Amino acid sequence: MHPKQSVTKQSWKPGNMLSPVPAVLVSCGGTKEWKPNLITIAWVGTVCTNPPMLSISVRPERYSYGIIKQTGEFVVNIPAVGQTEATDWCGVVSGREHDKFKKTGLTPAPALKVSCPVVLECPVNIECRVTQTLELGSHVMFIAEVVAVQASSELIDAKGKLCLEKAGLIAFVHGEYFALGRYLGHFGFSVRKHKSKPAAASKTRKPHERKKRNP
Ligand SMILES: Cc1cc2nc3c(=O)[nH]c(=O)nc-3n(C[C@H](O)[C@H](O)[C@H](O)COP(=O)(O)O)c2cc1C
Repeated sequence: MHPKQSVTKQSWKPGNMLSPVPAVLVSCGGTKEWKPNLITIAWVGTVCTNPPMLSISVRPERYSYGIIKQTGEFVVNIPAVGQTEATDWCGVVSGREHDKFKKTGLTPAPALKVSCPVVLECPVNIECRVTQTLELGSHVMFIAEVVAVQASSELIDAKGKLCLEKAGLIAFVHGEYFALGRYLGHFGFSVRKHKSKPAAASKTRKPHERKKRNP
């Protein structure tokens, strides 16, 4: 676990260097007042396990900001490789000028608990209700409780386990999109006995067959 070669560093200006992060399609609207809209969000994070909560940070000038602020609801749709172009496009044009569902061909499908639609093509849809709003500066953070989740049936195995690693998820790294790569280990593998090398272990058991735990 210690670096073998000498490492040199350069001072970098303070900024948002956290990587990789997800780039998600957030759906909102779908009420009498607001047509359904999509906004791409990279400033998204899990903030609590119980109750399940997440946050999204949105600039007030976004069309979606007013919708989420007023309705208090949104859905985080996790895109897969097949939705990369749509994810980027929804992040460079505004719902003020475009019907993003129509233009991308993404399908709005009913949510279980909130008024806004979920994106059918995305493997996971996380339905959220805002509980707190934090004005931070450039962005306003919506902290929300997860009230329902939908997951593609094809990702659920015979034992009822959600095999998200099969979904072909994408990661956003310093302005670029990547497909997720090689399996390296599972939660806690470093302290498990009799399992010395994760690379060797991965040959014998597929990632989705391993038991996972949350932080
Ligand atoms: C990969 C990516 C990530 C983005 N992340 C955010 C974000 O976290 N917060 C935000 O306010 N805007 C973010 N944007 C910009 C908005 O998605 C963009 O301004 C969008 O056009 C707003 O749509 P709207 O006006 O329909 O709400 C991101 C754009 C891209 C392409």
